[in-house]
Amino acid sequence: MKIIGTGSALPTLTVTNEDLAGFLDTSDEWITTRTGIQARHLLSTEDLYDLAVDAAVKAIKASGLRPEQIDFLLVSNVANRHVTPGLSCIVQKRIGLSCAGLDINVACAGFVNALMLADGMMKAGHAKNILILCAEEPTKYCNWKERDCSVLFGDGAGAVVLTEGNAFKDVKLTMISDRDVLYYERGMEPTPFEEKYIVGQPLVMKGKELFRTAVTESAKDINTVLKRNGLQHDDIDWFMLHQANKRIIEGIRNIVGGSCLKYPTIIEKYGNTSSASIPIMLDEMIADNKIKTGDKIVMSAFGAGFVSAACLWDWEF
Ligand code: UT7
Repeated sequence: MKIIGTGSALPTLTVTNEDLAGFLDTSDEWITTRTGIQARHLLSTEDLYDLAVDAAVKAIKASGLRPEQIDFLLVSNVANRHVTPGLSCIVQKRIGLSCAGLDINVACAGFVNALMLADGMMKAGHAKNILILCAEEPTKYCNWKERDCSVLFGDGAGAVVLTEGNAFKDVKLTMISDRDVLYYERGMEPTPFEEKYIVGQPLVMKGKELFRTAVTESAKDINTVLKRNGLQHDDIDWFMLHQANKRIIEGIRNIVGGSCLKYPTIIEKYGNTSSASIPIMLDEMIADNKIKTGDKIVMSAFGAGFVSAACLWDWEF
């Protein structure tokens, strides 16, 4: 398969580190040096569904296809205010689609996992043109009275349209079951048959542990993909990594190798937008004409689970 259209959408409200330091015990200096984040976009007047539709419509427009030519919708989302129906059902009509779709939740690694599913569906003949939409509002599950998670995230959506082609070369998925490293527990309705029931709580994160696992496992995924395709880091034009922390990106680069110029970032302006981070970055790089036919691109992401994933492209437009 290959990507023939990209789109992205961000909330209108920009919140800087200085803004956060106005009501949290934090500072621009701490956030910038520990994470690389300078600002993030937060949902305020619009909602996630507006962002999702905006990114998807832009990607379809860029692909040159008509909405009715899309024959499957794959949505990556960690959480939104609807547990059911799925986000794909909620936005399908507004995007102008009539095809079937489904939602996946593989945390921040959702985009690369969705690519694997799209590749399999195309090879099995189930779909020819697939829309992947990653729409995330992680700021809605942080505790805004605490500084540990709230400073890290931003909201956003990114989308790609895929069709048949030879650009997608390989993908490696990893799962190491460890709920405690990062989780968000929603409340459930009490029943008369249970004495204890779960009350929801905001995102919980063991930052240092997650940092270490993210660097080690992402570097392993990338090196596996490189090795089994007979490539060295020098052969790769772009390493497009999940944008969670600039120091994590640097840690992965220290193991994998390559100039920092090959590791683009958008985290400084958007924070961690979960599974939307790679498709948003891809959309911006294509708009800036940074990607050309023949470029070898590695994408790699990690997140709650613990999960991680990497894939390889030999880019064609
Ligand atoms: O998409 C996946 C989601 N999440 C991640 O990938 C996050 C992975 N982890 C990280 O990025 C980093 O571990 C963090 C950015 C979360 C934290 O950075 P760190 O260098 O590991 O800092 P730390 O947790 O060891 O905290 C160092 C100090 C502590 O103070 P003391 O105990 O040394 O006095 C913290 O209380 O920094 C303090 N601290 C803060 N200070 C100002 C923690 N958060 C903040 C904050 N502002 N926002």
